[in-house]
Amino acid sequence: MRIDIISIFPEFFGVLDISLLGRARQAGLIDLSVHNLRDFTHDRHNTVDDTPYGGGAGMVMKPEPWGEALDSILPTAPDPDDADGGPVLIFPSPAGEQFTQAMARELAQETQLVFGCGRYEGIDQRVVDHFATRGRVRLVSLGDYVLNGGEVAVMAMIEAIGRLIPGVVGNPESLVEESHEDGLLEYPSYTKPASWRGLDVPPVLLSGNHGAIATWRHEKQIERTRLVRPDLLSADTADAELLPPANSKSRRRPRG
Ligand code: 6GU
Repeated sequence: MRIDIISIFPEFFGVLDISLLGRARQAGLIDLSVHNLRDFTHDRHNTVDDTPYGGGAGMVMKPEPWGEALDSILPTAPDPDDADGGPVLIFPSPAGEQFTQAMARELAQETQLVFGCGRYEGIDQRVVDHFATRGRVRLVSLGDYVLNGGEVAVMAMIEAIGRLIPGVVGNPESLVEESHEDGLLEYPSYTKPASWRGLDVPPVLLSGNHGAIATWRHEKQIERTRLVRPDLLSADTADAELLPPANSKSRRRPRG
């Protein structure tokens, strides 16, 4: 997968050199480039923002540097040989649709993602409107809170998407039984020692009875989800209790 990031703080993305995604880049699974928005300005001060039309607090990012930066990355015309619809342009924004595991799975299938990190009060709307006529554009939010800019949000999205690209996570089995993969939170995990500071590992996990362990884990998933995220137990997942336990592949239904 090819990933391009446009930001006025390219150094923010240095952490993508390390850890799991750093290894994926070295292995050639992810081809990532970070572009400095100020390289696409032409004035002495490399100005990227200006006051908002209509008045109000804060500054708005000017359209011209964004236009030039995106022109340098995106194809000018749709490529007829591009079977998958071309790159997806993502603008992180608290006004966007909510980023979810389902969206991460969807975006992990793409061949190119371009992230445009806004700062200040946002980017001139015409940038979004113009590039929406040239390809697929999405405004995406991490959740209902405000960050100073899109950089941290893009980092989170790239980590969530990147680990779903085949080959990035060593053991693909570990992707299956995670929080949100089946619409429920993850069950609690334990390792040795069996007793620590007076707290014992639940005996069922030492029983060797794989059916009983799967049932217990599934019960814990539902208990946790009901307690901290009842909103996830929609009509779709309310019947999860009736389904066979977690290690049964038949339990996993395709999700949109
Ligand atoms: Cl994607 N951007 C900003 N600036 N704030 C956010 C966000 C994104 N998601 C949640 N808050």
